[in-house]
Amino acid sequence: MAARGLAVACGALALCLALARATNPGFVVRITQAGLDYAHQHAIAVLEKELAQLKLPDISGDFRIRHVGKVRYEISRLDLRSFHLPYSRISLVPNVGLQVAISNAFAELDGNWRVKLHFIRDHGSFDLNVENVYIKINLKLGSDAAGKPTADTADCSTRISKVRVHFSGKFGWLYNLFDRAIEPRFRDMLQSKVCEIVASSVRSELQPYLRTLPVTARIDAKAGIDYSLVAPPTATAQSLDVGLKGEFFSLAHRSAVPFPPLALAFPPDHDRMVYFGASSYFFNTAGFAYHAAGALVFEITDSMIPKGVEFHLNTTTFSAFVPQLEKMYPDTPMKLRLSAPSAPFLTIGPGGLSLTPVVDIQAYAILPSSSLAPLFLLGLTSNVSAVVDVKSGHIVGSLKVGRIKLSLKHSDVGTFQVRTLQSIMNIFASSILLPRLNARLDQGFPLPLPDRIQLSNILVRFHQNFLLLGADVQYQPRGPR
Ligand SMILES: *[C@@H]1O[C@H](CO)[C@@H](O)[C@H](O)[C@H]1NC(C)=O
Ligand SMILES: *[C@@H]1O[C@H](CO)[C@@H](O)[C@H](O)[C@H]1NC(C)=O
Repeated sequence: MAARGLAVACGALALCLALARATNPGFVVRITQAGLDYAHQHAIAVLEKELAQLKLPDISGDFRIRHVGKVRYEISRLDLRSFHLPYSRISLVPNVGLQVAISNAFAELDGNWRVKLHFIRDHGSFDLNVENVYIKINLKLGSDAAGKPTADTADCSTRISKVRVHFSGKFGWLYNLFDRAIEPRFRDMLQSKVCEIVASSVRSELQPYLRTLPVTARIDAKAGIDYSLVAPPTATAQSLDVGLKGEFFSLAHRSAVPFPPLALAFPPDHDRMVYFGASSYFFNTAGFAYHAAGALVFEITDSMIPKGVEFHLNTTTFSAFVPQLEKMYPDTPMKLRLSAPSAPFLTIGPGGLSLTPVVDIQAYAILPSSSLAPLFLLGLTSNVSAVVDVKSGHIVGSLKVGRIKLSLKHSDVGTFQVRTLQSIMNIFASSILLPRLNARLDQGFPLPLPDRIQLSNILVRFHQNFLLLGADVQYQPRGPR
């Protein structure tokens, strides 16, 4: 029945493709075993501290000793002096999650004892060494309705294989009492308390920390990035993979992106702690969002021409290429308005990241009344390549523009040889537009990182349809307040 249902649902192939497509992430975060080991180190240090704070209740009861009678005992002021977790490891459980196995943990406690037998009362203190403690924790990672990561303890078990007690004074029978009556109760109590602490640490430390991942990051006045999880994280034998939406959106009006994210074929690299796969979808939604936000418009006026460039942006300069301007608008200042008629679309392949943007250049004469007289509209295309890097947790880039090609789309001043404008337009593009664009790209766009993470040892590689960034991670603990 299920197979038939599927066949019916997939009868329309397009629908199946759309469903398959909907789950592709635009951005993938891969945490390798090296990354898990690093996170694990910090997590164990936190857990060790929390366990040392463990509060244990008093234990009291009656115990019947043959030929002697009933002993009333009470163990109080149990104080955990330390809890050490010297050996532990974290491992990936494919399709399930993570497992933390702690072995040979040990703890030191002290406390007071009090006994009453017939009319005899006595009391004193004792030390306890709890040894060979094994703790196994299964963590389940997920995502909530807002696409934030979640972490929960799926399972926890603690086994204590050795408890050594030392009573002050010489009361042989106390050891007997302890072994037979108190130790089993103490062991049960400690075992369940350890798992309670584990569960509460996951809830109160790990979960809130994971939730510092900014799933929607506002990046400037125009756009934001949606880094929400598209599915719960998946554990494989080698890594923990987190699929994120990886989509830029216009803050003013978010609209559906008209192209789908493609599947990313991650290489098996694993020597860095974390890898980021930024798909061409991710970058193309950036172009789409900024275009939708009306941000891909740029005006060039005479005042922007850098020092050292020997001409002004006016009709006197341009009449060398468009002779009729001299008569129609003698020595009149000009303005160029650059805009993208459509969102730029880039491609990523093993050779790098490249795009061939189309830019409209509308030239105006600025009349004495300061109104604008349209002169001509040029279409500019060029091959642009990009260099990408990571700086302060941001993807940064800089563009390099190749030879530009111009075409005349419309003229209000009659025809002219467009080709002759190539070199002057090259100057505008390379010395005015590009430096400003690159200054913005140099500020970059934030990577999806939870709080207090720094990246180092950056690796940048291009693959078919995505950019692979590798890095090692450093966690900056919060300083003293
Ligand atoms: C126009 O540009 C020419 C040459 O670049 C310059 O000599 C002239 O002074 C400029 N005119 C105005 C009004 O700026
Ligand atoms: C861009 O590069 C392609 C292939 O290398 C070439 O065919 C095309 O003419 C170039 N376009 C421009 C505007 O230089």
